[in-house]
Amino acid sequence: MTMTDIKSVLGRRVWDSRGNPTVEVEVRLAGGATGRAIAPAGASRGTREAVDLRDGGPTLRGMGVDQALAGVNGTIGPALIGQDAADQAAIDAIIRQLDPSPLKATLGGNATVATSLAVLHASAAAAEKPLWRHLADHTRKAPTIPLPEIQIFGGGAHAGRRVDVQDFMVMVPGADSFDAVMEITNEIYFAAGSIMAKKGRLSGVADEGGWWPIFDSNEEALETLVEAIELAGETPGERVVISLDIAASEFEDAGRYRLALEDRTLSSDEMIAMLGRWIEDYPIVSIEDPLAESDSAGMHAFTQDFGERVQIIGDDYLVTNAALVDEAAAAGACNAVLIKVNQVGTVSEAIETFEAAQNAGFRSVVSARSGETEDVSISHLAVGLGAGQLKVGSFTRSERMAKWNECLRIQDELGPDSFVKGTPLANTWWGRKQQG
Ligand code: PGA
Ligand code: ZN
Repeated sequence: MTMTDIKSVLGRRVWDSRGNPTVEVEVRLAGGATGRAIAPAGASRGTREAVDLRDGGPTLRGMGVDQALAGVNGTIGPALIGQDAADQAAIDAIIRQLDPSPLKATLGGNATVATSLAVLHASAAAAEKPLWRHLADHTRKAPTIPLPEIQIFGGGAHAGRRVDVQDFMVMVPGADSFDAVMEITNEIYFAAGSIMAKKGRLSGVADEGGWWPIFDSNEEALETLVEAIELAGETPGERVVISLDIAASEFEDAGRYRLALEDRTLSSDEMIAMLGRWIEDYPIVSIEDPLAESDSAGMHAFTQDFGERVQIIGDDYLVTNAALVDEAAAAGACNAVLIKVNQVGTVSEAIETFEAAQNAGFRSVVSARSGETEDVSISHLAVGLGAGQLKVGSFTRSERMAKWNECLRIQDELGPDSFVKGTPLANTWWGRKQQG
């Protein structure tokens, strides 16, 4: 036995930010080091992502995780005992062999992601390194503090479908420091709240902590976001820009896009034209899932038309899958990928996808889910891989703030020069404007 051999694996039920049960795994190594991680949960999920295994039935509205925990404690754990935690690729290969189904439907992506991440935490602890450094050393990447995308209004599946678009976010690529991003975003977030209050439309927050979106149209949300940026003393399009997650799969049906709020149905071409107008009219620098995951032709056309101007992120479209990234790059769809470890189910596969994106010249955005916890692994992943961008939701609620706060702690070790500033957006209209 060596110090990094796995001695025990314990799965336990804990609870997430929506109050739903979820899987936590604790791994103990022979030398005494321990690691722990919690599975997050999505609400607007891609059909090709790893299965979030739930018990179904009448209790806990079907959301129970007893089967997933039985998989950790009865199948994955016993197979990992005695294995070397320092060899993450071998650990993840064992997990994959235990459930070779393409979507990890037997064990559940929630069981596998918590276990895979817990092993990584334990091996970092054994190496006496913070997780971000352990990851950077392991993958030979240069660690950096990422540029955040921060939600101001939540929508779509995260807000009872009150508006169609899921995330209205700001980015502050013109800030000199990560701290300045936090400060400027705080001002914008509360400016947006005061505008909503003045209009008599303040009504709490959506799943990721952004203001609940009482608007008459999707564009009214965009107008209000611009107003909030101005009220915060910023000029939209200068230091501060807008980022949207359309999450279009959520309102697409048989190739048509149903904008419930505006009571209209658009074809793929009309959807592209509408988003094109938004890009003209608002300082939008990044758009995620502009078309549905099934609408590859639309994704190609949109990327053809706007890929030089804005970042186009595949989330439901690429589901953190390396083969799908390769395919999209070859076909000219998207120019960025969202990295959500639980979409693919293991750390090694998420890193594979990140590397596929690097090879394809795609940007990467490490991302949380709408159901989150105090787990801050993704902050370390974003820093350790030098991914460049991080998306974790809004600027309230501790399951969100924990991730931003962890970046601040890591920055104290890495130094202020480690912040990437606006570099991930260099090849967008914003980046070109900076070059004069
Ligand atoms: P989800 O949403 O976690 O509910 O899937 C997040 C996103 O779409 O980026
Ligand atoms: Zn998304």
